[in-house]
Amino acid sequence: MSKTATATKAKSTKPIVDSLKTVLADSYALLGQTHIAHWNVEGPAFFSLHAAFQTQYEELFIAVDDIAERIRGLDEYSPGGLKTLASLSSISELDAEAIPAKDYVAHLIECNEIVGASLRTARDTAAEKGDPQTEDLMIGRIQVHDKALWMLRSFLKNL
Ligand SMILES: [Fe+2]
Repeated sequence: MSKTATATKAKSTKPIVDSLKTVLADSYALLGQTHIAHWNVEGPAFFSLHAAFQTQYEELFIAVDDIAERIRGLDEYSPGGLKTLASLSSISELDAEAIPAKDYVAHLIECNEIVGASLRTARDTAAEKGDPQTEDLMIGRIQVHDKALWMLRSFLKNL
């Protein structure tokens, strides 16, 4: 590839890659928060929440791999490691302490909303830059998080 072609590629994909890095970091942070909720949730809803959180973090574990590999597909290197990813994410972390089950759910709603916002930014950036593969991946992820939000919000109804 010529120098000019390389410069053009870097220029056109950088905003997409940057938005994907945020999606990756936020998704990884949500994975960690869902995991800690799975481990530490307590109370009468323990069994259902413990199982639901497992379903969600297992899905997220596969998803972060797809997102990182989309970054590689755009010929950039994917960030990784807890410290690096935490620095790229705006999701706050819960402490390991006694937290009411409804507060775990409320926290995960906030986390899913943050991931959803990052996904929409990445979707729009990909659309603007003419990258339907990334756009498609982001749309699929938005559907997953919209469903998670419906389930989590439903749990909090009438509590
Ligand atoms: Fe487990």
